[in-house]
Amino acid sequence: MIPIIINFKTYKSGKDALNLAKQIEKINKKIIIGVQATDLHSIYSLTKLPVFIQHADFHEPGRNTGFITPEASYAVGAKGVFLNHSEHKLRFGVIKKTVERCKKIGLKTAIFAANLREAKKIKKLNPTYLIYEPPKLVAGKVSVSKSKPGLIKEIAKKLKYDFYVGAGIKTREDVKIAMKLGASGIAVSSVITKAKNPRKKLKSLITY
Ligand code: G3P
Repeated sequence: MIPIIINFKTYKSGKDALNLAKQIEKINKKIIIGVQATDLHSIYSLTKLPVFIQHADFHEPGRNTGFITPEASYAVGAKGVFLNHSEHKLRFGVIKKTVERCKKIGLKTAIFAANLREAKKIKKLNPTYLIYEPPKLVAGKVSVSKSKPGLIKEIAKKLKYDFYVGAGIKTREDVKIAMKLGASGIAVSSVITKAKNPRKKLKSLITY
């Protein structure tokens, strides 16, 4: 299987998110999914998938109304945390503090970078997963693989750290190109969350 992270974003929630997670589980129980905080516990309880929360804060348990602590994420079953997605940008100092807090309590981290410069900074935090996604191509018609092959190659050459690639990935060919250029996995959202038959689509993307 090609290593993959599926970001549910807010395309699916409640029962729909759970149903999608169950479909994904049928393909492979090791696939990482990123869900909204509100869906985490039900998906954790009713599937065996490693579930990541789409964002957490560095705040400590206590007087912090409305924040999502790493402890709370862990308590409801999160295996890890997404940070700094282009749709939820964070300052580097915030990412750093949050990563430190997550590591202390045993949460994995999947940190997004928009370009090589940002990826180099994030690499210093030693995230479990580092994901390169050019923001303009997210949910677009043309995949990062076809539109920015040179940038994927450059990252593979200069970053010297395992990285996943995402943005507009829709076909087996997109996946093959990304992997061939040096990615160690892929990140997707709309191709699965909006698919009529997510199982079939997922299978076509990731099985050898
Ligand atoms: O995190 C994955 C995501 O941003 C890619 O989105 O819809 O282009 O597959 P999409």
